[in-house]
Amino acid sequence: MESPKTTNAILLTWVKEIAELTQAAAVYWCDGSEAEYDRLCQELVDAGTFIKLNPVLRPGCFLARSDVRDVARVEDRTFICSERKEDAGPTNNWEAPATMRVRLDGLFKGCMAGRTMYVIPFSMGPLGSDIAQIGVQLTDSPYVVVSMRIMARIGSKVLDVLGNKAFIKCMHSVGYPLANGRSDVKWPCNPENRYIVHYPESREIASFGSGYGGNALLGKKCVALRIASVMARDEGWLAEHMMIVGVQSPDGEKTYIAGAFPSACGKTNLAMLIPPAGFEGWKVFTVGDDIAWIKPGADGRLYAINPEAGYFGVAPGTSMESNPSAMLTMTKNTIFTNVAMTDDGDVWWEGIGGDKPAHLIDWKGQDWTPATTTPAAHPNARFTSPAHQCPSVDPDWENPNGVPISAFIFGGRLSTTFPLVYQSRSWEHGVYMAATLGSEATAAADNQAAIRRDPMAMLPFCGYNMGDYWKHWLSMEGKVAHLPKIFRINWFRKTADGKWLWPGFGQNMRVLQWIVKRVNGQVHGHETIFGTVPDYDDINWQGLAYDKATFAKVMEVDKHNSAREFEDQATMFNKFGSALPPALEKQRQELLAKALG
Ligand code: GTP
Ligand code: SPV
Ligand code: MN
Repeated sequence: MESPKTTNAILLTWVKEIAELTQAAAVYWCDGSEAEYDRLCQELVDAGTFIKLNPVLRPGCFLARSDVRDVARVEDRTFICSERKEDAGPTNNWEAPATMRVRLDGLFKGCMAGRTMYVIPFSMGPLGSDIAQIGVQLTDSPYVVVSMRIMARIGSKVLDVLGNKAFIKCMHSVGYPLANGRSDVKWPCNPENRYIVHYPESREIASFGSGYGGNALLGKKCVALRIASVMARDEGWLAEHMMIVGVQSPDGEKTYIAGAFPSACGKTNLAMLIPPAGFEGWKVFTVGDDIAWIKPGADGRLYAINPEAGYFGVAPGTSMESNPSAMLTMTKNTIFTNVAMTDDGDVWWEGIGGDKPAHLIDWKGQDWTPATTTPAAHPNARFTSPAHQCPSVDPDWENPNGVPISAFIFGGRLSTTFPLVYQSRSWEHGVYMAATLGSEATAAADNQAAIRRDPMAMLPFCGYNMGDYWKHWLSMEGKVAHLPKIFRINWFRKTADGKWLWPGFGQNMRVLQWIVKRVNGQVHGHETIFGTVPDYDDINWQGLAYDKATFAKVMEVDKHNSAREFEDQATMFNKFGSALPPALEKQRQELLAKALG
C-alpha cells in the first residue's frame, strides 16, 4: 500500500478493514490531480472501457459503453436501512441494518480480488465551506474515480480539510472479482446481486454490483440527497432534487429560482435556459442542474448551494436548438456513456439535430444505420462535464454562502389537467402542491394515463419517511421569515391529438418572467381551484406567436378532471397512516370540495 496522506485513524482503520474484506490486490489513494486523471483515462482506454474520441472534434473526451444490464439507477434494489422500518416509510425499501450488514459482508467478501481499491476523499460543496460535507468512497472502478473527479471536489486537498474529523463512509464495488483466473471485461458489474444501501443513522453507504450513474457515483444521489436529507431534517435545512437558476432583468436585478422536476423532466434544460427573442437584456445564469442544499440565512431568507462540481446530464434530446449551453459545455473534457459514435470519432444521439448519419456504432457497439429499428443511443445515455465549462455558469455558483432563493417551482410530465403555471395561496398549500407532484412514465396523451406520484421529485431520493419529510417542509413556515413563493409548472400539456400545447425550452422564459414579477409583487393573478394563474396579458408575448385560444387551453382548469385528480391523491396519502401531516389532507379535502361544488 502506498502511503496515505492522512493521519485520520478512523479512515486508516476502515480502509485497512475493507481492503482485507474485499481482498483488493492493491490500495490506491487518489490525489485528485490532473496527471492522475489522465493516467487513469489512459488505463481505461488500454482496458477497452474507454474509447478516446476524435481529439479535434472532442478534445479530452471519452466514450464508455456499459453492460446492457447496467444502464440506470435501480430503484427496486435501493434500500434505506434505518433502525426502525417506520423511519424509512412506505415509499422506501427497508431491511434491518444488522441483517443487511451480514448480507453485504457476504457479497463484499473477496469482491475486489485481482483489482485495485481506490480511496476517493470527496467534498460535496465548495471545499472548506461550512456547508460542505466530506465523504470517502472506496471503489474498484477507475471509471467511477474519473467521473467523481468531474462531479465532486476530490483528492489530497479534501484530506487536508478533513483532518481527524468524521466523514461519510461510502463503499462501492462493481462485484466482479478477478479470482481463479477470471479475466476482466470492459464494463464489469454484477446485475444479479445489486444493492444500493443507506444507513441513515450512522451516515454510511454501501453499493454493490453496478458501475452506472447514481448507483456508483456515491456523492450524488446517495450522499447529497438520501443521507443529506436526513442531516437536513435533523439540522433544520433542505436537501432537494432541484436545479438552481438566476434570472437577471435588463436593469441588473437578479432573482434566484430553485426547481424540482422528476428525473428526465427538464431540470438541466431549465438550468441552462437562453432567453428567446423578445427578452433582450435578460440573462439566465446556471447555479446547478440536479441538487440543491438550502439553508436559512441570518437575514431570514433561504440560501441554496449546488453541492456538485459537474453535470451528469441526459444526452438524448439535447441539441443546439433545445440546450445550446449544455452542447457547448460538453465540447471538451467530457465522459460520454452509452451514446452512439460517428465514423469520424464524434458522438451522436437521437434528438441531437441535423440528419441521421448513414452509419454509426450504437451504444451496444453494433453497426447502426437509419434503417436500424432500435435507438443508436440508450435513452438514459449521459454526459459527464465540469460545471465551470458551462457558458451560462453563475459567477456565484461556488459561493459558499449560496444564493438567496425567491421561488420554488415544481413540475412533472403531465399531458392533461394541469395548467402551464400556477402559484400556491400559502406555504401550506404550496407544500401540498409539491407533495402531490406527479409525472407520466410515458408521453402517452391518454386522459387515463397513470400518474406516478413523485413528491417534490424526491420519491427515489428521500432518506427517511416521506410523511416526516412533508412535516419538515411544513415546519419551515415557523422558522424562516421570508420563505420563497411556491409554483407548479407543466411544460408537457398536450392537445387531444397528442401535440405539445406549449413550445417549451427557451420559451419557458416567459413563465419564469411571470414568476419573477409575482415574487417581486409586480403583477396580479387570478384565482382558480388549483391556485393563482396569469392572465394572457400578464405574459410577455414579444417574439412568439401564441394566441389567446391556445393560452386558454394550456391554462384550462376543468372541474371534473380536477376533482378526479384530488380524489386520486388519496391513494398516495392513505399509504402514510399517522405519518401523513393532517394539514396536507385538509388541503386535499378543501380542494376536492371546491371542485365538486
Ligand atoms: P435528471 O438528470 O434525470 O435528474 O433529469 P433532468 O430533470 O435534468 O432532465 P433533463 O433536463 O435532462 O430532461 C430532458 C428531457 O426533458 C428531454 O426528453 C427533453 O426533451 C425534455 N424537456 C426538457 N425541457 C422541455 C420542455 O420545455 N418542453 C418539453 N416538451 N420537453 C422538455
Ligand atoms: C436522476 O436519475 O435523477 C439522475 C441521474 O440525475 S443518476 O445520477 O443516475 O441518478
Ligand atoms: Mn436527478
